[in-house]
Amino acid sequence: MSIVNVAIDGPAGAGKSTISRRVAKELGFIYVDTGALYRTVGLNVLRLSLDMNNADDVISTLDSVKVSLRFINGEQRVFLYDEDVSEAIRTPEASMAASAVSAVPAVRDFLFSLQQDIAAASNCIMDGRDIGTVVLPNAQVKIFLTASAEKRADRRFKELSEKGINESYENVLSDIIQRDYNDSHREIAPLKQADDAILVDTSDLDLEQSYEAVLNAIKERL
Ligand code: DC
Repeated sequence: MSIVNVAIDGPAGAGKSTISRRVAKELGFIYVDTGALYRTVGLNVLRLSLDMNNADDVISTLDSVKVSLRFINGEQRVFLYDEDVSEAIRTPEASMAASAVSAVPAVRDFLFSLQQDIAAASNCIMDGRDIGTVVLPNAQVKIFLTASAEKRADRRFKELSEKGINESYENVLSDIIQRDYNDSHREIAPLKQADDAILVDTSDLDLEQSYEAVLNAIKERL
């Protein structure tokens, strides 16, 4: 049987990673979180004390940086050189750095073949912003998963609190609005729904209902 690729795109906090991980488990596919790659490039820029909003600074890191994904017991871990940074990339600072570096075309080129190679080798659910439009334009199923900014901020706020990361709701919401703007207004590979993607709006759905909606959409297309 040929390889099956499912592309799930959408804004931050729409539930992509939680839902994609669960759907992947149900279908026996691997789950690839491409945001983790941009976060790792961003984290590296922060650690080098460079300016994440200066494209030359960001580009200067690409010659030497080593970013890789490993799948351990079916779970994705992301590595910066030999360090597992899967948790370190989840801070609000790393989120902002990811959004900034993802607007630099050289960064997108740098991560492009890594993503395509994984998808060519394995049945996968790959989530991101440009998977259905740019990285995997021939994916058999494309989903655009979204929700209102307020609903997404609610969810992200709870998630951060549970992890013990203290951030006010107002900051979480303004970060989301800022990142939405950055992600959908950049010149290269902006966040947008592919023409052939199925739209799933989770504003009024709980996690279980969102999961069912995505799983059913995939099953119908396959
Ligand atoms: O999904 P996430 O919040 O972990 O993504 C972090 C940032 O990376 C986000 O602001 C946009 C960027 N990103 C991207 O440009 N393209 C992708 N395929 C995935 C993420």
